[in-house]
Amino acid sequence: VQFFVATQRVFDLVIAANRLPVDRVVGADGTSQWHRSPGGLVTAMDSVMRHREGAWVGWAGETGEAPAPFEEGGMWLHPVALSDEERETYYEGFSNDTLWPIYHDVIVPAHFHREWWRSYRTVNERFADAVCQVAAQGAKVWIHDYQLQLVPAMVRERRPDVRIGWFNHIPFPPVELFAQLPWRSRILEGLLGADYLGFQRTPDAQNFLRACRQLDGRTTKGDLVTTQDPDGTSRRVRASAVPISVDHQGLEELARTESVQERAKEIRASLGDPEVVMLGVDRLDYTKGIRHRLKAYEELLADGTISSPKVTFVQVATPSRERVEAYKRLRTEVETVVGHINGAYSAIGAPAVHYLHQSYPRAEMAALFQAADIMLVTPLRDGMNLVAKEYVTCRHDDGGALVLSEFTGAWHELRQAFVCNPHDIEGLKQVMLRVMSLPAKDKRRAMRALRRRVADNDVQRWADTFLANLETAPERPSRATTK
Ligand code: ADP
Ligand code: F6P
Repeated sequence: VQFFVATQRVFDLVIAANRLPVDRVVGADGTSQWHRSPGGLVTAMDSVMRHREGAWVGWAGETGEAPAPFEEGGMWLHPVALSDEERETYYEGFSNDTLWPIYHDVIVPAHFHREWWRSYRTVNERFADAVCQVAAQGAKVWIHDYQLQLVPAMVRERRPDVRIGWFNHIPFPPVELFAQLPWRSRILEGLLGADYLGFQRTPDAQNFLRACRQLDGRTTKGDLVTTQDPDGTSRRVRASAVPISVDHQGLEELARTESVQERAKEIRASLGDPEVVMLGVDRLDYTKGIRHRLKAYEELLADGTISSPKVTFVQVATPSRERVEAYKRLRTEVETVVGHINGAYSAIGAPAVHYLHQSYPRAEMAALFQAADIMLVTPLRDGMNLVAKEYVTCRHDDGGALVLSEFTGAWHELRQAFVCNPHDIEGLKQVMLRVMSLPAKDKRRAMRALRRRVADNDVQRWADTFLANLETAPERPSRATTK
């Protein structure tokens, strides 16, 4: 009886994302455990939802029957099931082997399969049904990311009473790339089911508006696009930028704890107290430019400009999408290069590259950030990159330096970072050397400015702005809440 009553719960705020904030992992003995899910979306939305009452609809990371809905950390989690085949076709296939490459400059080729598209539609329908089950009359429904682009129109069809917003955590591609998708018009129609569409940067919103205009002949004016619902009514949808951020206060508090500060010292000591610790923290993804930064480091070692262990490089690479071919290849390449560098430049007990293919608790990440003199964030393309903002947040001592790729959303806000073009290996080497030799006071000045920026625009402000935009769309909120 209790279970039946529980599933009838409805909420005024419902979010839907491919993943729940926790993944269910079933052990060899059949017992299940819940682990935090990977990725920036979960980091951001977990902080947002802990301060609000609402439901989170998403996949629990395992195939087969979905676990029953349950409460966790004040959130109502409503799992959506995926079969083995759907994991392959909807998640690994269409989401991560068709859309992901197209939305990230086709760094690797995108693959197009009609059965992947069919599966994407089916799973999006399932998410839409689940959202409608838990949404109260007139609720706000906030749909996330590229995996669920058809859900806005599907929810509108079923529930005209709710307000529908969608936020894209990754870039929205230029029209020339988006045009490659055989299902491009269906995707635009799916998104236009929303009242408000949020993007990381203004150029992303503009790419979307341009696609509506150029590919489907829709009328756009400023940040508004006119669409017709299936019943013939004309409606305007707003598309604009709302850059995502981190829980600045919560993370800084954690970074200030004695245990984290002690751990940072311990990490440096176990690295042999080098003069310079360089750090990379990424999902093991080809968008992140991991090979480019390893190449730059290797060349600096090879030409004798720096030497290990005086300069040490730590690369944390979270396992990601391990069954997708392009990710398997990347892992082999990265691990081969790391082995090569270590073979040539390590000493006993002092590897030149510390490579960690593991996930860590937040406190350990905060300690790593504090232990690093130079944070290397060098993606070839990234919607935002929360790691950059987390690093800055953890440097309450104003120490450290952020090297940041111009191809991240974060660069559009964090202009005091040391910019790099990761394709330019020579340039990347020069930035590393410049930062190593720059007077501490110059680095501190840059860090202070970066920290102010992130403190002023934290994740709660991002969520408030998004929800205010959703509330008033297609009009803008009367008082702008973003800078
Ligand atoms: P993406 O969403 O593409 O993974 P982001 O940089 O925006 O990239 O977000 C990554 C998130 O995952 C950050 O919150 C970061 O701290 C976290 N993270 C990355 N690597 C690890 C790891 N090895 N262990 C724990 N958390 C990690
Ligand atoms: O926004 C980037 C993103 O795809 C998120 O949707 C997700 O949280 C993260 O990367 C991790 O990817 P995955 O859910 O495929 O492990």
